[in-house]
Amino acid sequence: MTTDGRIALIGAGRMGGALAAGWLRGKGRIDPARLLICAPNPTDEMAALIKAHGLKCVDALGPRMAKDVSLVVLAVKPQIFHQIAGDLAKVLPDNCAIISVMAGVTIRTMTEALGDRPIIRAMPNTPAAIGAGIIVAVANDAGEARQAEATKLLKVGGSVEWISDERMMDAVTAVSGSGPAYFFLLAEALAGAGENEGLPRDLAEKLATNTLIGAGELLKRSDLSPQELRRQVTSPNGTTQAALDVMMGNSALPELMRRAVNAAERRSRQLSDPNR
Ligand SMILES: NC(=O)c1ccc[n+]([C@@H]2O[C@H](COP(=O)([O-])OP(=O)(O)OC[C@H]3O[C@@H](n4cnc5c(N)ncnc54)[C@H](OP(=O)(O)O)[C@@H]3O)[C@@H](O)[C@H]2O)c1
Repeated sequence: MTTDGRIALIGAGRMGGALAAGWLRGKGRIDPARLLICAPNPTDEMAALIKAHGLKCVDALGPRMAKDVSLVVLAVKPQIFHQIAGDLAKVLPDNCAIISVMAGVTIRTMTEALGDRPIIRAMPNTPAAIGAGIIVAVANDAGEARQAEATKLLKVGGSVEWISDERMMDAVTAVSGSGPAYFFLLAEALAGAGENEGLPRDLAEKLATNTLIGAGELLKRSDLSPQELRRQVTSPNGTTQAALDVMMGNSALPELMRRAVNAAERRSRQLSDPNR
């Protein structure tokens, strides 16, 4: 199956814009002549990228442009997808594949709207916008070449993990999709707790943020598990132990996290199929 036709990016907002910027820089960059941007109102960043690389940009994918397109990357909001899918289905060549980064739009929904074709559904998270994300992908029977092409294109957002059961996407959404917000809340709560102990607000925020970022970097560079690193910084009867006793007594934090992630997973299922 050919994977070297034109790539049409539909939707050039935060996620689409970040993907396009990644595709045009560094090693393995894609030829700008292959890229077609479909965006009625490109953002300033996107307009700059279009100008810098001489990219072709259209409001919508029309029949003339569509005939050379071998891959469509969908980065619009799900409600926009439902508005444009009918017109898109009419112009897409039979062998054209789809990569979607839209949250909650299932492969089945895309197949019903766009016809039976290679479809890859990916779930990035916000850090993907700076290349530091984790992207989970699942494909129908798209084939190895299409999956390899998708890995290459999605990798600009961070690491790519493949799953074989699409039903896991709701749990993925609850862990890595929504996860950055849990981290931001942790920074907020730790700063608030520091303020409660008498630290000036600015200092408390700085300490909390830099501690979490530093610990994250340590975890990233270490071969040890989070549990092992935690044990290493916890001296018996020391200060860290006193705090962890509160967080882990009666499984307080693990149980809270289980309930929170379970709520997000259930909400993701409801949003992707409101009739369930
Ligand atoms: N941002 C994230 O961290 C993240 C994470 C996971 C998944 N996603 C998914 O990625 C998708 C895009 O999210 P986003 O954060 O990038 O949203 P966004 O910044 O709002 O980008 C969507 C873009 O699509 C444009 N658009 C609207 N109608 C269009 C049309 N008919 N044809 C082409 N483009 C059109 C919008 O333009 P206007 O603003 O002019 O309407 C906007 O620039 C969503 O489905 C979301 O679920 C995003």
